[in-house]
Amino acid sequence: MTRVAVLDGIGSCLPPRLVTNDELAARLDTSDAWIRSRTGIRQRYVVTDGTGTSDLAVGAGSRALKSSGDPHADTVVVATTTPDRPCPATAPAVAARLGLGHAAAYDVAAVCTGFLYALATASGLIALGVSARALVIGAETFSRILNPDDRSTSVIFGDGAGAVVLRAGSPDEPGALGPFELRSDGEGRDLITVPAGGPPPADPAAGPGAADYYFTMQGKKVFRLAVQRMGECARAVLDRAGRRPGDVDRLVSHQANQRIIERLADEIGIPYERTVSNIARVGNTAAASIPLALDHAHTERVLRPGDRVLLTAFGGGLTWGASMLTWPAIDPV
Ligand code: UT7
Repeated sequence: MTRVAVLDGIGSCLPPRLVTNDELAARLDTSDAWIRSRTGIRQRYVVTDGTGTSDLAVGAGSRALKSSGDPHADTVVVATTTPDRPCPATAPAVAARLGLGHAAAYDVAAVCTGFLYALATASGLIALGVSARALVIGAETFSRILNPDDRSTSVIFGDGAGAVVLRAGSPDEPGALGPFELRSDGEGRDLITVPAGGPPPADPAAGPGAADYYFTMQGKKVFRLAVQRMGECARAVLDRAGRRPGDVDRLVSHQANQRIIERLADEIGIPYERTVSNIARVGNTAAASIPLALDHAHTERVLRPGDRVLLTAFGGGLTWGASMLTWPAIDPV
């Protein structure tokens, strides 16, 4: 029998500090009206000092394990752009704090596509028999790398974490993941980047300036590419699954911008009413975006058991990807 990864639990975690658009407009040259009309975002959550990505990852991971009804996992993957430290990875600390003993634990860095890359690698370990139960977490404290003076990024991103538990199962059962499409284009690496942090320049005078240590994004170019690339790989996944856009009950795409979600649905040929969105509430949470959207839609019963769900994401690297599953019956915690 073919062995595949099956979704068995889900959970999420948001930090307590809520930041409204009006709060940002009080210190930046922006407005609630601009942010809402150009992005769909109304608020976001951010960590306060002392809270790291691992804290949010542990919160989401423990809820996902609880919802699966089994506290064990032999593999922990954390997708993040904002690890607690450059070295070591964040996942081993998360595994230890969740009481998962000597579980395999590693991070995946694919920015906003990170969760899909992590999901694919964990699914591969399960298919190979290397892992029996994997905890896959997308977690970010993006507020740490935002330039507080840059209105074009500060209003978009928020912090948070989402997690799923995968177990071994068969391809025909609800929750079975796949197929996967994962792609990249390093030619676009400067479109979404923290410019500093590379090797020291040969000419020290040409070294990075203070603003280069913050996250930057060329929003307009990224917008167009996001719609195009997510559309392409979402269609590729549908083709490989022998499905058509009309077979999709719910499109859960990376929550980057409400206008991207609308255009993408149109590009793939999925009615807008079938899209899932929580961007108004949490903003763009990068690698945490898809599992957070899934968990919120699951908790609010927007996602129902038996729904055919199409996942797709696009982000820095550039990276993008897509996958599918039929939503399983999981009790919300
Ligand atoms: O998560 C990874 C993937 N990320 C994405 O997919 C994000 C893709 N990009 C976007 O979502 C949008 O491009 C943004 C939300 C980042 C920007 O929206 P836009 O409609 O593309 O705006 P723009 O960059 O073309 O800027 C339009 C105007 C500019 O002013 P001028 O030059 O027309 O006078 C900007 O300076 O809006 C101005 N602007 C703002 N105004 C008020 C940019 N940011 C703001 C702001 N408040 N926060």
